[in-house]
Amino acid sequence: MAKESQLLAVMPQLDLHEGTSVMFRFEKHGEALEGFVIRHHGNIYAYLNLCPHASEPIIDGTQSAFNSDKRYIVCREHFAMFNPETGVCVSGPCPIADLYRLPVIVQGDMIFIST
Ligand code: FES
Repeated sequence: MAKESQLLAVMPQLDLHEGTSVMFRFEKHGEALEGFVIRHHGNIYAYLNLCPHASEPIIDGTQSAFNSDKRYIVCREHFAMFNPETGVCVSGPCPIADLYRLPVIVQGDMIFIST
């Protein structure tokens, strides 16, 4: 029998400013995982904090997930770049895999992800 998904409260949406990211931790099927949320062009997206190149975290602690002009998500390990709206790899050592997107739900003032 499939396990039901759960909603995880991440943060108040007003605290996630344009062009910024926030890391969070959660658990799925007993496994400790990290994710991050971003606001890009007014929209909110969430991804697993795991680079498909060498399974390193995309961000660590308070680092920004964005590159300097805030057009792409960048992995700090070997500088793979990803489209912030889709998680698709656009350059660097990640041509065969993209970021794993987490479903975002905004209810009232809060950002949730579905785990
Ligand atoms: S681990 Fe991210 S680019 Fe290599």
